Amino acid sequence: MVEVEGLRLVFRQGREETLVLDGVSFSLPAGESLALIGPSGCGKTSLLYILAGLLTPTGGRVAVARAPVVRGREGTALILQDYGLLPWKTVRENAALGLRIRGRSPEAADRVLRDLGLWDLRHRYPAQLSGGQRQRVGIARALALDPDLLLMDEPFSALDALTREELQDLVLSIWRQRRTTLVLVTHDIAEAVYLGRRILVLSSRPGRVLAEIPNPGAGRPEYRREPAFHQMVNQVREVLARGWVHG
Ligand SMILES: Nc1ncnc2c1ncn2[C@@H]1O[C@H](COP(=O)(O)OP(=O)(O)OP(=O)(O)O)[C@@H](O)[C@H]1O
Ligand SMILES: [Mg+2]
Repeated sequence: MVEVEGLRLVFRQGREETLVLDGVSFSLPAGESLALIGPSGCGKTSLLYILAGLLTPTGGRVAVARAPVVRGREGTALILQDYGLLPWKTVRENAALGLRIRGRSPEAADRVLRDLGLWDLRHRYPAQLSGGQRQRVGIARALALDPDLLLMDEPFSALDALTREELQDLVLSIWRQRRTTLVLVTHDIAEAVYLGRRILVLSSRPGRVLAEIPNPGAGRPEYRREPAFHQMVNQVREVLARGWVHG
């Protein structure tokens, strides 16, 4: 589903050049999930934008569904940290926004609102919602498009621990039901281990792949309570720590 090979990204501002991503390669089969973790500023958001077609890499090859990435690919949905809701539109209108932009009927959004327990809130405005409810609307808007690739950039980092776990469970159940290919950027090691059946650990800038850790235990709600989960959390923590020391 996602193929990235020798990816390189340089930002130029006047004479100044910043190497952000250097030789990043990985591939992700359809229906799998990948968590992307690494220190602040290592290029995680940039990598996600490249996958979404919003940013053009300086070098390397990126393909989604065996085609070069294009901006506005129909099956790709992106969920951001700040929810991206329009404050002057209701929950129902916000959920249907992606469909409307694509000239499609808004009905699918109503179905997803019911699925996610947001139907009773449909006439509210974002300011009248909790952070967790707002992000639920962000997720609803993405799912209304019935994406085959779901990209999430630290979607839960602004939420309290309990709400965060609740929404992680929501994403997990969506993934289990729909088998949407999932790429999740996170700072949170436990979140990476809970949701990523592969964990890609990036070094500090320039982001290079420190390790790609298979995590086949992920994908089940019980995993969080199992010893193997906590061992994996420690393993990822060590890889990150080593990267910082020698990076
Ligand atoms: N449009 C831009 N122009 C110039 N430099 C940029 C631009 N966008 C990002 N950068 C720089 O590229 C680097 C990587 O940024 P990016 O947002 O991808 O990192 P990140 O891993 O997502 O960080 P964080 O964990 O803090 O969200 C940073 O040093 C940032 O300052
Ligand atoms: Mg970021």
